[in-house]
Amino acid sequence: MKRPIEEHAARFDEMAATYDDQENDTDEYRACVSLVVDAARDAMDADATVLDLGCGTGAIGLSLAEDAARVLGRDISEGMLAQAREKAADAGLENVSFGEGRFRDPNVPDDVDVDVVVSNFAMHHLADDEKREALRAVAALDPDRFVLGDVMFFGLPDPEEPFYSPEVDDPATVGVLAEAFTDAGFALSDATSVHDQVGVLVGDDVDALAAGDHRAFARADTDALGDGPR
Ligand SMILES: C[S@@+](CC[C@H](N)C(=O)[O-])C[C@H]1O[C@@H](n2cnc3c(N)ncnc32)[C@H](O)[C@@H]1O
Repeated sequence: MKRPIEEHAARFDEMAATYDDQENDTDEYRACVSLVVDAARDAMDADATVLDLGCGTGAIGLSLAEDAARVLGRDISEGMLAQAREKAADAGLENVSFGEGRFRDPNVPDDVDVDVVVSNFAMHHLADDEKREALRAVAALDPDRFVLGDVMFFGLPDPEEPFYSPEVDDPATVGVLAEAFTDAGFALSDATSVHDQVGVLVGDDVDALAAGDHRAFARADTDALGDGPR
């Protein structure tokens, strides 16, 4: 991490009130949100518990709330969390809760079984070693799927291009992330480039896949069978 975590938190506290209207007004950000939400939904059913890491003002978690039993949002910025809580209350969503938590210490109660972990535009603040640690912390929660939308390098890093500010950001190459996913026990099921410096990776729990009890794959099998005679 190029800046201490407290500095990142303070930076996001400052922009929290204007974040939704000003900070991410790009096609790539919207594409990422949409891809992350769709990939998460594919692995969920109505009983699912979803964890949104680096949730900010709740873009992803709130979008998934109606399709889940429960959504937990975790972030280091109290200002961003306050915005997320306000949006949840305005939408009348009672199955979402937002609280302090970090990538490497998500602060999930022991008695909560997390089915799907999502994260959008947040993990690039961590150094590569810290991202590997974060992947292990996510894997320790034993989700069926981890969906990561983020700044990541498909080609050579280019600070002149949008989404990468070297003073505060520390994005990884897609190769480093792919290795971190697999080292943590996720099969990399999908990788989508939204921009040379932005993408979405989908990791599925290897054991769940091997046991054939993965919701996403069970659904894909069912869809493939169609409605006709079998
Ligand atoms: C660019 S915002 C993205 C917010 C949201 N996920 C979205 O898609 O709009 C990045 C968020 O990551 C949070 N963040 C940064 N470092 C973090 C860490 N180590 N653990 C948890 N959250 C972190 C920031 O506080 C901020 O709210």
